[in-house]
Parts: sequence; C-alpha cells; structure tokens
Amino acid sequence: MSLLKINIRSTQVIITACFIALLMLVSTCEFTKSDDGLSGIVHPSGEEFAGTGTCDQCHQSIADSHALTPHARTSGVGTLETVLGSFDSGKNTFILNDRLKVSMEKTPDGLFQRAFVAGKEVDRKPIDIVIGSGRQGQTYLFWQENTLFQLPVSYHASSDSWSNSPGYPTDQILFNRSISARCLECHSTYLKIGKTIDGHETFDRKQVILGVDCERCHGPAAKHVTFHQKNPGEDKGQYITNPAQLTRKQKLDNCALCHSGIRNNFMPSFSYKVGDDLDDFSLPTQPADSGATLDVHGNQYGLLTSSKCFRMSTMDCSSCHNVHTRETSKLELFSARCMNCHKRGGDNFCKQREFPGLVLSKNCIDCHMPALPSRQVFLRSSGNRSTPFFVRTHLVGNYERQVKLFIEKITTKNFPAK
Ligand code: HEC
Ligand code: HEC
Ligand code: HEC
Ligand code: HEC
Ligand code: HEC
Ligand code: HEC
Ligand code: HEC
Repeated sequence: MSLLKINIRSTQVIITACFIALLMLVSTCEFTKSDDGLSGIVHPSGEEFAGTGTCDQCHQSIADSHALTPHARTSGVGTLETVLGSFDSGKNTFILNDRLKVSMEKTPDGLFQRAFVAGKEVDRKPIDIVIGSGRQGQTYLFWQENTLFQLPVSYHASSDSWSNSPGYPTDQILFNRSISARCLECHSTYLKIGKTIDGHETFDRKQVILGVDCERCHGPAAKHVTFHQKNPGEDKGQYITNPAQLTRKQKLDNCALCHSGIRNNFMPSFSYKVGDDLDDFSLPTQPADSGATLDVHGNQYGLLTSSKCFRMSTMDCSSCHNVHTRETSKLELFSARCMNCHKRGGDNFCKQREFPGLVLSKNCIDCHMPALPSRQVFLRSSGNRSTPFFVRTHLVGNYERQVKLFIEKITTKNFPAK
C-alpha cells in the first residue's frame, strides 16, 4: 500500500528569470482517426472503440456536460490548460534543497520539468500526460520509448503549489518510477498493454484513450456509432450498454472497478468491461467498513454497501449521482436525492429538530455523510507535521460528533460571539 501513500513536502518558491512566454498547446496524442469513424483501438474482447469525441455528434448535451467532470479530466495530454501548476516566473520552481531544484517551463516544443544540480541542468523531460483533475492534486508522466514514467514534481491543490511527487526521495532528483497499467486502469479509458521490459510495463502509444470517457462505462462503441450513422431513422440505441438496464450487481461493479479501493487483479488491467462480473477479474483487499478504507483512493462501494440505506433499499450509485454532470459540493442537490426516499412528513424522515438557521433539506450530508480525515493519505510538511485529506464517508449513518460540530458552526454563524 506504500505505493499510494502521498507525502507531499511543503513547497518553497524562489524567483527565477523566465524568458519564454509563447503559449503553445502541444499534443502528444499520436492516434489519428480514420474516415469511417473508427479508432483502430480494439479492446481485448475484440470489440472496437469509437474513440474520444465520437459521441458528441449525436449526444451533444451529455458530451458537453461530461467534459467538465472530474472523470473526463482525470487524465489528459499535458497542456497549459490541463496542467494546473504555474509556469510563471517566480512560481515555476520547486526547491528540494540549496543544491537541487526543478523548474517547470513552457517552450515552443511543449512543457518540461528541468532538473538542476548546483545551478547546472542535469536532466529535462516533457510533461506528456497529466493524472488527476486537480480536486486534490495532479501528477505528471512522460513517455520514454513505450514506457510511462512519473515526473519528480507534482501539484498540490489546497496550497496551489508544486510539490514532491509521492514516492520520490527528497534528497535527489530522479525520473525513474515507471507507471503501471493498474494505475492507469482507474485513471483512463484504455491503453493497450505491451510486453514488460526490464520490469517496466510498456504500452502501444497508438492505442490510448485518456480520461474516464463514455466508453469506459458504456463499453467499446464503434459498432453503435457506425450502425446509427448508417441508420439515422433508428431511435432505439443498438450495440450499446445502458447501465440502467443491468442488474444491481452489474451496475455497482461498473463503479466498484475504480471505487472499491485497491483490488487484487488476477486478470490483465483493462480487460473488465461493463456487464461483466467484476469478481471474475479482481477481488477486494480491504474490509468494507473500516475507517482505514477512507482514502483519496477510497472505498465508496464498500462503505455504501455496509449502510442501512443500501441494505434496506435497491439503491445504487445512480440513486445519488448523475455521473454525466459535475455536481461537486452541491449539497442541497444531493439532499434532494436523500428525500426521494426520506420524505418530509414520512415515518423515516430525520429526527433532528429544526430551528432558525437549520433547514434540514439544505444539507443532510454534513451530518450523515460527513467529510472525515483519511488515515492513509496525508500531507507531510517540512516540520514533519501531517495534515490529512478529508473524504466524504459513504457509510451513511449517525455521527454524533460531526452533528455537534455542524450545529455549533450554524449557531455561531447566526449568533456570533460578541
Ligand atoms: C450517429 C449517432 C450516434 C452516435 C455517434 C452515438 N450514438 Fe448513442 N445513440 C444513438 C441513438 C439514435 C440512440 C437511441 C436514442 C437515445 O437513447 O438517445 C442512442 C442511444 C445510446 C445509449 C442508450 C442506449 C439505451 O439502451 O438506452 C447510450 C448509452 C449511448 N447511445 C452511448 C453512446 C456512446 C458512448 C457514444 C460514443 C462512443 C454514442 N452513443 C455515439 C445515436 C448515436
Ligand atoms: C483502484 C483505482 C485507482 C488506482 C489503482 C489508482 N487511483 Fe488514483 N484515484 C482513484 C480515485 C477513485 C480517485 C478519487 C478519489 C476520491 O476523490 O475519493 C483518485 C485520485 C487520484 C489523484 C487526485 C486526483 C484529484 O483530482 O485530486 C491522483 C493525483 C491520483 N489518484 C493518482 C494516481 C496514481 C499516480 C496512481 C498509480 C500509482 C493511482 N492514482 C492509482 C482511483 C485509483
Ligand atoms: C462513470 C460512468 C459513465 C460515463 C463516463 C458516462 N456514462 Fe452515460 N451512463 C452511465 C450510467 C450509470 C447511466 C445510467 C444512469 C441511470 O441509471 O439512470 C448512463 C446512461 C447514459 C445514457 C442513457 C440515457 C440517459 O440520459 O441516461 C446515454 C445516452 C449515455 N449514458 C451516454 C453517455 C455519453 C455520450 C457519455 C460521454 C460523453 C457518457 N454517457 C459517459 C454512466 C456513465
Ligand atoms: C475507470 C475508473 C472509474 C470508473 C469505472 C468510475 N469512476 Fe468515478 N472516479 C474515478 C476517478 C479516477 C475519479 C477522480 C477523478 C479526479 O478528480 O481526477 C472519480 C471521481 C468520481 C466522483 C467524484 C466527482 C466529483 O465531482 O467530485 C464520483 C461521484 C464518481 N467518481 C462516481 C462514479 C460512479 C457513480 C461510477 C459508476 C457509474 C464511477 N464513478 C465509475 C474513476 C472511475
Ligand atoms: C433509495 C432510497 C434511499 C436513499 C436515496 C437514501 N436512503 Fe437513507 N435509508 C433508506 C432506507 C430504506 C433506510 C432504512 C430504513 C429506514 O430507516 O427507513 C435508510 C436509513 C437511513 C438512516 C438511518 C441509518 C442507521 O444506521 O440507522 C439515515 C441516517 C439515512 N438513511 C440517511 C440518508 C441520507 C442522508 C441520504 C442521502 C445522502 C439517504 N439516506 C438516501 C433509503 C434511502
Ligand atoms: C446516498 C447518496 C449517495 C450514494 C448512493 C452514493 N454517493 Fe457518492 N457521494 C454522495 C455525496 C453526498 C457526496 C459528496 C459530494 C460532494 O461533496 O461533492 C459523494 C461523493 C462521492 C465521491 C467523491 C468523494 C470525495 O470526497 O472526494 C465519490 C468518488 C463517490 N461519491 C462515489 C460513489 C460511488 C462509486 C457510489 C456507489 C458505490 C456512490 N458514490 C454512491 C452521495 C452518495
Ligand atoms: C444537524 C444535523 C442533521 C441534519 C442536517 C440532518 N440530520 Fe438526520 N438525524 C440527525 C440526528 C441527530 C438524528 C437522530 C439520530 C439518533 O437517533 O440518534 C437523525 C436521524 C435521521 C434518520 C433516522 C430516523 C429514524 O427513524 O431513526 C434519518 C433517516 C435521517 N436523519 C435522515 C436525514 C435526512 C434525509 C436529512 C436531510 C433532509 C437529514 N437527516 C438531515 C441529524 C441531522
């Protein structure tokens, strides 16, 4: 599990002279689409992907709103738009110590991380791929032949600054951590896996679909696209999976693939597709209801399935989430979804008394699904103090301490101390 322990050192910044100001969006995406709308990217099942951007022509509104979600943005080509850290002079340097520093630079040839030892450049690698939409942070990868390696400097959102990449030492600058298919399996739609060379996994650089895109949840869809292009009058979707029509277990598996913590894979990464039984591909490694499973790589599936809400209804993830839309932090909207089952006036409505300032329907979440500190992921600042990440628990229930804190927050807001 040490692989996922995220220790981010506090960032120090110095002023450096920056002379390059050309904004260039550089694409390292090498696959080109053929005229028939097919991508040439084939899933191990033999089904072909249509590829990024193909759904827009017929599902424009879903495509537009999905493009803004953390799923769509969880991986992509490194550009000034996708990389959230600053390339501005004075903010583009990460200092490890008085001899070692890395600077982030935009050049006409693309974006780079350059390593300096005692003022002399010793290495320089491109920011080819971004991992993370940046709600908590981002990390960056570069291609070397057909292997992906992690760059030494990452981005930490809450301090809006560059930081040491998880797992890299802080007393030397290395570019040698290769990225496994397992890591990308949760942060992209598809990469075709090649041979493992000297312990490093390789990929076919022409068969890559970044972002958790439509076809990750609906399956490879080239056949659906070509069918509907040829039959514009057909109004029933053909050769495509709508998860709403699957069994509850199949629906949940489609999310549990990436939201049940780290699982033990016994089949190659990327071989599961929607509709399959996930237990034929991997098994869970963590107990479902332990606080230790709260993690930036959290186990929403395990926690939710332990909740009374889940056990005593036919709920699945879509009971609360519309994955086509970015709904981050919209707590009143989520609360309305709770009230689909817990109606005001009904016998299973909340027992908490309302008072001026406390309107239950505005926020069921902070009392019953509070954000709790992760026990696995924390920030370590230079003084060796650590600050945990907070993650929403999916064990829906009664949290006395959080209720008390929430009520205190409301009452001090309404009746501030003199
Ligand atoms: C040439 C037009 C066209 C393209 C391109 C297209 N679709 Fe569709 N799709 C349709 C039509 C028509 C329907 C049936 C009407 C509806 O549900 O919107 C449909 C329905 C669907 C459904 C619902 C199926 C059901 O049984 O309820 C899904 C899911 C879907 N499409 C996904 C996709 C994805 C993912 C892509 C991109 C890879 C895509 N579509 C590209 C035309 C298209
Ligand atoms: C089992 C699936 C899974 C694996 C494997 C996995 N991740 Fe994640 N990762 C997630 C999920 C899910 C989230 C979002 C969690 C949340 O918000 O609760 C996430 C969050 C992140 C974030 C923060 C994203 C943001 O927007 O704040 C980064 C960066 C990240 N992962 C990098 C990695 C790297 C690098 C690897 C491989 C070493 C990896 N992950 C492996 C599922 C996974
Ligand atoms: C994270 C998984 C996920 C992603 C990514 C995703 N979908 Fe869906 N999609 C679903 C689920 C789950 C449902 C069924 C929702 C329900 O139960 O009502 C669905 C339903 C649909 C439907 C059926 C009609 C409707 O509006 O619900 C269409 C069409 C569709 N998706 C198209 C797309 C397209 C196009 C994209 C990409 C732009 C996309 N989806 C991305 C999970 C996903
Ligand atoms: C291929 C892996 C994968 C699958 C499948 C997947 N997710 Fe995610 N999901 C992620 C990752 C990775 C993130 C974090 C993205 C980031 O911020 O970089 C995430 C983030 C989320 C978030 C947080 C969004 C926000 O606005 O804060 C929700 C909610 C979510 N997923 C729900 C679902 C549901 C529901 C399903 C099933 C229909 C699903 N996911 C399927 C990988 C996946
Ligand atoms: C699909 C229906 C459904 C949805 C949606 C739903 N619940 Fe429930 N919930 C239930 C059922 C059924 C029970 C158990 C029996 C009862 O109390 O009525 C329950 C129980 C609970 C309990 C008691 C838990 C315990 O361990 O005693 C709480 C608290 C709760 N729900 C809060 C919520 C909140 C908050 C939301 C929204 C985030 C929510 N529920 C969404 C169906 C649902
Ligand atoms: C009872 C309602 C409910 C159900 C069911 C539910 N969620 Fe959530 N989920 C929420 C709420 C509320 C949030 C907090 C949203 C926010 O603050 O942006 C959330 C947040 C998340 C996040 C972001 C977590 C974070 O703190 O970064 C992920 C990932 C997620 N849900 C995945 C899932 C998955 C996967 C399922 C199905 C196994 C699921 N959820 C089922 C209500 C629900
Ligand atoms: C200020 C915090 C707070 C808010 C906001 C809140 N609740 Fe509660 N809820 C409580 C407390 C406290 C209890 C009683 C717990 C106990 O019985 O020990 C409770 C009990 C419940 C129960 C169990 C009822 C039973 O029959 O035992 C449900 C279900 C529930 N709440 C749902 C909701 C829903 C849905 C919302 C939003 C509309 C909501 N709550 C908003 C604090 C809150």
